[in-house]
Amino acid sequence: MTDHSTRRLEILPVEGLPEFRPGDDLTGAIASAAPWLRSGDVVVVTSKVVSKIEGQLVRVPADPEARDAARRELVEREAVRVLARFNRTLITQNRIGIVQAASGVDASNVEGDEIALLPADPDASALALRNGLRERLGVEIAVVITDTMGRAWRVGQTDNAIGASGIRVLHSYEGEVDAQGNELQVTEIAVADEIAAAADLVKGKLTATPVAVVRGLELTDDGSTARKLVRPSEEDMFSLGTREAIAQGRREAVLVRRSVRSFTGEPVDPEAVRRAIGAGLTAPAPHHTRPVRFVWLRDRGLRTKLLEAMRAAWRADLSRDAFTEEQIAKRTARGDILFDAPEVVIPFLVPDGMHTYPDERRNACERTMFTVAGGAAVQGLLVALAAEDLGSCWIGSTIFAADVVREVLGLEPSWQPLGAVAIGHPDSPAEPREPRTDGLVEL
Ligand SMILES: Cc1cc2nc3c(=O)[nH]c(=O)nc-3n(C[C@H](O)[C@H](O)[C@H](O)COP(=O)(O)O)c2cc1C
Repeated sequence: MTDHSTRRLEILPVEGLPEFRPGDDLTGAIASAAPWLRSGDVVVVTSKVVSKIEGQLVRVPADPEARDAARRELVEREAVRVLARFNRTLITQNRIGIVQAASGVDASNVEGDEIALLPADPDASALALRNGLRERLGVEIAVVITDTMGRAWRVGQTDNAIGASGIRVLHSYEGEVDAQGNELQVTEIAVADEIAAAADLVKGKLTATPVAVVRGLELTDDGSTARKLVRPSEEDMFSLGTREAIAQGRREAVLVRRSVRSFTGEPVDPEAVRRAIGAGLTAPAPHHTRPVRFVWLRDRGLRTKLLEAMRAAWRADLSRDAFTEEQIAKRTARGDILFDAPEVVIPFLVPDGMHTYPDERRNACERTMFTVAGGAAVQGLLVALAAEDLGSCWIGSTIFAADVVREVLGLEPSWQPLGAVAIGHPDSPAEPREPRTDGLVEL
């Protein structure tokens, strides 16, 4: 394989081109202005002139404010997908797949009452120009159609290829070995983009030089077009802007939680559990109290001792209910998840700050108020765990064996267990669910 670079390159402006209008003959104009074109040249054309001759101009009010409003409407209309909004700038993916600012909608270098859209199919435009120049001048050339684009992580814009014909747009070095003997694995040069940027050094933005010729490259044509330079969505590491990704993450945080009852054996990062517990503890509670404690059973021996004691109590309850031995075994097996889960956290309600009243009715209400606060904290923990990509299942069993739990763990009689949370890496990944509407009552 050869290097994509060449020893010496010339970039020649095509001078004397007219101001183009819809329907004009671009091929004829270039053929007349550059009769010196040779086979092997790359003719680089600013997309704006292609847009103009193809009639991709939209008439808008000349008043600057109304023109800007029309421009913004066109940006939204041309966008297939909005990736990011930053102040007044919209980064979008347009119909031809290109991700750039403002969907390629541009108010520069056009009349005051016009706005230019990108050419409808720049690769087809490049091919047509290439065929036309072959016909007129008998030369085998390549064509690159360019647009100016920003770069996500770098200040300033460069020209890039949005249409191409007659040139291998990408040059892959995969498997090649450099002068130091290093094998190149990922290097793939966007040759068409480099040509576009190089030609811009001659074309500029203020002079009427929309076409330049890059001469001296060794052209190889593999039939590729500029569409190949659009990163496929499955390889897109930045399919959303940072703000949009954060906003989406927030919207989906609650929806991604679900009861996970099967975990991989992968150990859980203790810091992730700590962060999730910390988040759960921020739940609302009555009277500015902090009535929730999360007891994380890190000692496996203690966990097993507790679960066995709970199982014995459960068995005793079930045999009092006259269940058969087989039925008892089946039921108590449901508690196995707490034996097997990589981590277990037991939420407790403590009555610190609970008000007491002279009557039982209000005391019961107060207890309910604290219990729902406990539920809020547990849901917070589960959601925070899901946001850490951790699965969880809230198991109710400790509620039915509160005395056993307090005794085995050596806790105050006032501590009330609110179930147990099994935690681990989920066996299968979870997508966010659709929000539900069946429980909404609007009055
Ligand atoms: C207080 C409480 C106790 C629960 N106890 C159990 C349990 O003992 N075993 C179990 O498998 N799931 C238990 N769950 C989980 C529910 O079964 C689960 O939330 C329900 O099926 C809805 O599924 P989802 O959590 O995936 O939305 C409990 C949930 C709550 C809120």
